[in-house]
Amino acid sequence: MRVTLNIWRQADAGAPGKLVPYVVEGVTEHMSFLEMLDVLNERLIDRGEEPVAFDHDCREGVCGACGQVIDGVPHGPHQRTTTCQLHLRSFRDGDTITIEPWRAQAFPVVKDLVVDRAAFDRIIAAGGYVSVHTGSAPDGNAIPIGKPVAERAMDAAECIGCGACVAACPNASAMLFVAAKVTQLALLPQGQPEREARVQAMVAQMEREGFGACTNHGECEAVCPKGIPLDFIGKLNRELLRASAKQAVAG
Ligand code: SF4
Ligand code: FES
Repeated sequence: MRVTLNIWRQADAGAPGKLVPYVVEGVTEHMSFLEMLDVLNERLIDRGEEPVAFDHDCREGVCGACGQVIDGVPHGPHQRTTTCQLHLRSFRDGDTITIEPWRAQAFPVVKDLVVDRAAFDRIIAAGGYVSVHTGSAPDGNAIPIGKPVAERAMDAAECIGCGACVAACPNASAMLFVAAKVTQLALLPQGQPEREARVQAMVAQMEREGFGACTNHGECEAVCPKGIPLDFIGKLNRELLRASAKQAVAG
């Protein structure tokens, strides 16, 4: 296969960026998207040129590192697929493919396709954890949890923190990510002691980071590689309302 890649090149957050075309020949439909970029980078290095910086880690769809906007869609044309799990068989010989970084004020460009997603880490650090002692592995089974609740908590826990929801949203909202993290812990017994403080702290941090508000476009759900459903945002709003009401009653 032969593809032309228009890749966003940018030295750092403050530098101007631009799309630079690269023709990549001799790749096969069995290669993953990131393997194709590896091939390009090997050739750039051989020519004494600067390789394209892109983020990746597991290459198995579980770490959330490999965010790229491919032809205008975060993680590319396949639903429920991370960039690392996308293969060239999804494209045609001779295609021109445009590759850009996540674009959001809260995710500044580090270099080329790499953005700084530490804003997500700071939201988690604000309250997205359980500090009660939950015991070792057998203790987890000592607290019975109904199947529907366990399934819903597992659905929320599937969020890999990739940030595609932010990149797809016209408001650069992080509501789907925060909703998944809040919902996961709010449903489980171990999450109850810090339930109200957690949602308030995480939403406050989300707002400090400069993410926009949710206005129900649904683009986040459409591009989420883990299929996190939009109704978790409703759950997040109810959790926040519940926490405010409890605080008001407590005075
Ligand atoms: S909600 Fe989906 S798109 Fe957003 S960070 Fe989590 S896995 Fe990625
Ligand atoms: S590299 Fe880990 S999800 Fe793609």
